[in-house]
Amino acid sequence: MSEWAAVVLAAGQGRRMHSSLPKVLHPLCGKEMVRHVVDAVREAQGGPVLLIVAPGSDDLRQRLGDQVRYAEQERPLGTGHALMQAERALKGMADHLLVMHGDTPLIQTETLKRLIAQHEDSAAAITLLTSSLVPPEGLGRILRDASGQVVRIVEEEDADEGQRAIREVNGGMYAFRAEWLWPALRLLSPSPSGQYYLTDLVAIAAREGPGVSTASSVEEMETFGVNNRVQLAQAERAMRGRILTRWMLAGVTVVDPLSTYVDADVAVGEDTVIYPNTTLSGRTTVGQRCKIGPNSMLDDSAVGDDCTVVASMLEGATLESGVDVGPFSHLRPGAVIESEVHIGNFAEVKNSRLGRGVKMGHFSYMGDVQVGKNVNIGAGAITCNYDGVNHNPTTIGDDAFIGCDTMLVAPVKVGERSVTGAGAVVNRDVPPDSLAVGVPARLRKRTKKGEAGSS
Ligand code: UD1
Ligand code: MG
Repeated sequence: MSEWAAVVLAAGQGRRMHSSLPKVLHPLCGKEMVRHVVDAVREAQGGPVLLIVAPGSDDLRQRLGDQVRYAEQERPLGTGHALMQAERALKGMADHLLVMHGDTPLIQTETLKRLIAQHEDSAAAITLLTSSLVPPEGLGRILRDASGQVVRIVEEEDADEGQRAIREVNGGMYAFRAEWLWPALRLLSPSPSGQYYLTDLVAIAAREGPGVSTASSVEEMETFGVNNRVQLAQAERAMRGRILTRWMLAGVTVVDPLSTYVDADVAVGEDTVIYPNTTLSGRTTVGQRCKIGPNSMLDDSAVGDDCTVVASMLEGATLESGVDVGPFSHLRPGAVIESEVHIGNFAEVKNSRLGRGVKMGHFSYMGDVQVGKNVNIGAGAITCNYDGVNHNPTTIGDDAFIGCDTMLVAPVKVGERSVTGAGAVVNRDVPPDSLAVGVPARLRKRTKKGEAGSS
């Protein structure tokens, strides 16, 4: 038997979200609410984590995989009823249970550790996390007697005016003594609307059990629960502030935190500067000494050290070091840009590798291309990679010079050190050290590099 196990309740309908997506899967800074909770719980205690889910929660099971176990709640009959579903999986497995809701994504490991330590130090049946640092609307209020002992929790909808004025609220995070909990769950009776309230356990423990103790959260907003989309936006703002603070304290300059959006799973290196109106999302990583923004979006992209990205969009792209991009360029999935490449304005790269030192300054599209080192791609040069049915590959050798407005009609190869003339439509392979000009392009005797004109 381990000391601790955890239960996360995530089977509610989330009706107040008005959404076809289960509430706990709504993302907060790019990460599902319930994953924020599960990660904090896993860090705070080493025991198993059981997620209570609604029947048919394939989406949820897929996203969380086998880091947690699952039990189903057939019908959403309330938080107390949800916890009853844990008994079969966890009875006899742990001395204490940490019980959480899947809709409180701002909770931090440190606070949960505090709750756990406090519970272990007391003889109480329940240790409850309470807070006076969150907006109390919609939350259960903590009722204490004259001596300060918790006597029960009253839900807002059942509270009278005086009770509603109480600032101390129930965070929905509890530590239970397991041997007290399982029989106590049988004492819960349904509310007039047929719901079993987990919170009623508090009155039971206060009345006849070994009592209730409380712990409080470390930071403002930690116990904030998300029941509707207004609260989702409030939680997102709080989480965003927390993430930016973490990166600023780690050496990242954020010029305007109010217009900078960094997802939970992003990493940014020291001395990087993020300019306003910039979003770093998904699993993006940015190296050291970069300048990102203003007005840039980087999603699931990896950026090396000493890169500059101005007013551009990167999705699923990789930049090695010393690359500069933008303004107004778009790097799409599979774009791999080697070191010291210059990508200027209105360039698009998809599923292509640009070799070290490539220059692609203006108005170009490179799709499904392997570009060698030190290639110059002139203004307006593009790959015609799609013939309406298939995407076809292009290869450009090292030190080639692609003239302005060249059309590379794929599949096609341009050999090393070859030159294409301005406006050439290249629909046949060009051998190394050659010059191809005209429409369609024909090979000419090569005199010196660049004679066909380019940027
Ligand atoms: C609950 C508490 C309230 C507390 C607040 C903290 C009760 C009765 N009320 O209210 O005191 O201040 O959380 O955020 O517990 N769930 C199930 N099955 C169900 C119902 C809910 O698994 O049948 C899950 C939900 O998915 C959710 C969590 O339990 O993750 C809480 O349910 P929710 O309906 O959001 O409760 P609140 O109204 O927020
Ligand atoms: Mg809630």
